Parts: sequence; structure tokens; C-alpha cells
Amino acid sequence: MNKKVRRALPVTLHQLRVFEAVARGGSFTRAAEQLHLAQPTVSIQVRQLAEAVGMPLFEQIGKKIFLTDAGRALQDSSGELFDVWERFEMRVADLQGMKKGTLRLSTVTTAKYFVPRLLGPFCKRYPEIDVRLEVGNRSSIVERLARNEDDLYIMGMPPRQMDIVKHPFMENPLVVIAPVDHPLAGRRRIPLARLAGESFLLREPGSGTRMAGDRFLRDRTMRLDVKMELGSNEAIKQAVAGGLGLALLSLHALGPEATAGSLAVLDVQGFPIRRSWYTVYPAGKRLSVVAHAFHEYLKEQGAQLRMEHQGIASQAGTRQIA
Ligand code: PGA
Repeated sequence: MNKKVRRALPVTLHQLRVFEAVARGGSFTRAAEQLHLAQPTVSIQVRQLAEAVGMPLFEQIGKKIFLTDAGRALQDSSGELFDVWERFEMRVADLQGMKKGTLRLSTVTTAKYFVPRLLGPFCKRYPEIDVRLEVGNRSSIVERLARNEDDLYIMGMPPRQMDIVKHPFMENPLVVIAPVDHPLAGRRRIPLARLAGESFLLREPGSGTRMAGDRFLRDRTMRLDVKMELGSNEAIKQAVAGGLGLALLSLHALGPEATAGSLAVLDVQGFPIRRSWYTVYPAGKRLSVVAHAFHEYLKEQGAQLRMEHQGIASQAGTRQIA
């Protein structure tokens, strides 16, 4: 049989961007608005792309459009292509002596006490860098890491079972906090077993803080009386200050409440639990120019931040923490 040889039609980056916008929003009209194009232009671009691929990319069911299998495959591949292109643009900017591009950063909730503050001077140093910051508890950030959704991840408990690169850049001590008028506040070298008689307010399962505390206590075959689980450090601090119980929190989550005298850090034997903050990324990932710049910046700033937090610790009445 005489097979017809089909000449491959050219595919442009512009067509792929239009397709990506339609796929993401599930609508031709929305994509047209977003890209400031006329709706027929969007339809033509997608039709030409489908012709080049040789298969339909969308199917219409009722009023909705859905990606076909070929459309989904194209969405995955064009995502990779845009990443490669973006890295190329960053490298060119770097060669021109500029750091330019988007930094996609994901941090655990507790790191939000210092990461946004660090971003200010970083963005001043590199005004052409835009930052997209995602904040979530450890389990949600580990999921993003597994899907390789961001450039860099900041967390206190990098996953042990994943193939990753991790760099510690600053201490992340976990402390026991109490209301300032608690009978144990100000006592020296409180035995760990003494905590068994106290009620605790803990972070939710899935949080790195919770995981670190659980691991520490499990190793010492000790259990706490958990009165409440709360999904935020702020809620925990308020509840502790209100006298509902004690809590385990990262020293970095203590701010003005500790120094303003509503919370005390207890001097419990075995505490603070010594931990670190890490930058993490999947093994084999090539950091973009801007991610590399931020990585270096964090290392440089780690020492400065450590000094600031030692200040908080001593004002809150802990022993030496680092
Ligand atoms: P978390 O993580 O904000 O999910 O509790 C903090 C940490 O790992 O120290």
C-alpha cells in the first residue's frame, strides 16, 4: 500500500501558549480575555495546532470542553517546554549581567515567619525577579515537591524516602511554650516526665512541627495529653496565652507574643529539639538562574537570621539555643 507522507506542520510557541491558556481555564472565551485576543483568533490557533498534531485536542460535552488524551499529553509536554524556554531566557539575562525571571518558592507554614521578610531585600537586590510564594503545611509542600511544581522548597523535615538535594541554612529549634504565668515558667531543668501532667495544644497531623515533636516523644516512649489540634501556629499561640495548655512550636513562630510577655519558653530537659531549616529540590533538577541566586542569598542570610532569633530566645527566657 502506498503510504501518504504527511509533511509536519510547524507549531509555534504562541500556539502552545494559547492552547495552554484554554486548557488551564477550560474555556476559549476566558483564554481570549486573558491573552487579550479575539475569541476567533484563539479558536483558529487551537485548530491549527490540532491539525499539526493530527488529533483533536479538546472535546465538547454539553457546554463544557475537556482535554482529549492527546490534549493532555500536549499539556504535559508544553509545560516542560515552557520551563526549558524560561530557563533559557533566564540564562540569557544572566549572560547580559541581569538576574531576571520568576522564582517559584514553596515554604511550610512555619517558615512564613522569616521567608517573606527575606524576600524584601532579595527583590530589591534583583528588581527584575518576580516571586511566586506558596505556603502550606509540610505534607502539602512535600506533595508539591513530588510533582516538581516549584523551583525551591523550604522545610524543616525533608522527606527521607524521596531522592532530593537538601541544604541546611539555619537552626530551627522546637521549644515548649506556656502562658507566662504558668507554674513551670522560669523553673530550671524541668524533667521531661513532668510534661505528662499537662494538657497540650498541637499542630495538625501533616505539619512538620507535629511530626518532629511526635518523633522526639516516640523515641522516649512518652505521650502527651493532647487537648486540641489546631491548624495554625497563630491559633496555638493565642490558645496557649489564653491558658488552654502548653504547646510545641518552632522558635521561629514566636514573635512579639513571647517578647511582649504573654508566652514563656520552658526550660525542659531534652529541649529545645535541635533541628534545621533546609532548602530542598528534587535530585537531578537543574536550578534556574534565579533559584540559584536565592539559594546563595539564603545561605548568606542564614547567619544573620540566626543572630536575630537568638535574641528572641534569650528575651523569651530560654537557654542558649544554638
Ligand atoms: P510546619 O513545618 O509548618 O508544617 O509545621 C514546620 C517545620 O517543619 O519545622
